[in-house]
Amino acid sequence: MSDVSRRQILRTGAIGVAGLGATVLGANINSPPLGASTIPLSTTRDTNSTVAQTQDQPLRNAKPLGGQVALITGGARGIGRAVAARLAKEGANVVICDIADQISSVPYPMANPQNMAETVRFIETEGVRALSVQADVRSRQQMENVVKQTIDAFGKVDILVANAGVLTFGWLHELSDAEWDDVIAVNLSGVAKSMQAVIPHMRERRYGRIVVINSCNSRFGSAQSASYNASKWGVLGLVKCAAVEYAKEGITVNAINPTGVRTPMIINEATLTWADPDNPSPAAGQTHLNPECLTQ
Ligand SMILES: NC(=O)c1ccc[n+]([C@@H]2O[C@H](COP(=O)([O-])OP(=O)(O)OC[C@H]3O[C@@H](n4cnc5c(N)ncnc54)[C@H](O)[C@@H]3O)[C@@H](O)[C@H]2O)c1
Repeated sequence: MSDVSRRQILRTGAIGVAGLGATVLGANINSPPLGASTIPLSTTRDTNSTVAQTQDQPLRNAKPLGGQVALITGGARGIGRAVAARLAKEGANVVICDIADQISSVPYPMANPQNMAETVRFIETEGVRALSVQADVRSRQQMENVVKQTIDAFGKVDILVANAGVLTFGWLHELSDAEWDDVIAVNLSGVAKSMQAVIPHMRERRYGRIVVINSCNSRFGSAQSASYNASKWGVLGLVKCAAVEYAKEGITVNAINPTGVRTPMIINEATLTWADPDNPSPAAGQTHLNPECLTQ
């Protein structure tokens, strides 16, 4: 494997450690922290959902998003957590859902229930209401259940942020079926299933805001990133179709294509070692921005 091919992923939206992606929807991803933190847990899970301690907070407040209800997939950590914290800061009540479990083909540790509880704490800090539901975006039934639980708790869903995603890497001919299928199932089909779960409710209310956290990898090709790039290109088509289908019903559908963001998807031994076996450190990653490996 050439240095370029190993390191090119640091030039792409999935893997870079610096760049525009540091700010998402105005949220500073370094605050709150992205990975494990030492904040004590405030919630316990005896089922697969937890209504946060702020249940007695009023649903409405005077902030810009006061009274709105936002649902974020993959909200346990990373970009999803940053979005959750920012929407809460703007006054929205926030529901996070996350698989909070490992998918075996994913080569880095995924989120866990403790991460979900930590995100709930960040939401609570803003004085709004929170709900966390452990669910897998690959299951339409589970996503419909998340929406049902959200409506039971808060009466509605105004905003869906479809953010859950995974990354596998490797030459196309060497990818296992699972390394291909799981990325497509989470990053593409999971976005569709999340939309399918919430759109009937939004159509009834003739209002909805759907934002997909996609990737700038949806705009180019890069070596050893076929499953990820294909999923993100697919999301663009999905978003464009859904935007046309539902615009007249008061539902907007948009995608954000971040570049590199320092999250646990990137800052982990597997990803950094793969990207640069000789120097798998976050700081080293910033020196390996190679534009030559991209095709527009
Ligand atoms: N970090 C980057 O550089 C970057 C750049 C461009 C786009 N993105 C995209 O942003 C999104 C968030 O990525 P991140 O960097 O915060 O990664 P992350 O791994 O830190 O967070 C992703 C979250 O999604 C959850 N998740 C994964 N599969 C799931 C499933 N089947 N069901 C429910 N939850 C699931 C994970 O448990 C995790 O909490 C992804 O769609 C990713 O592709 C990331």
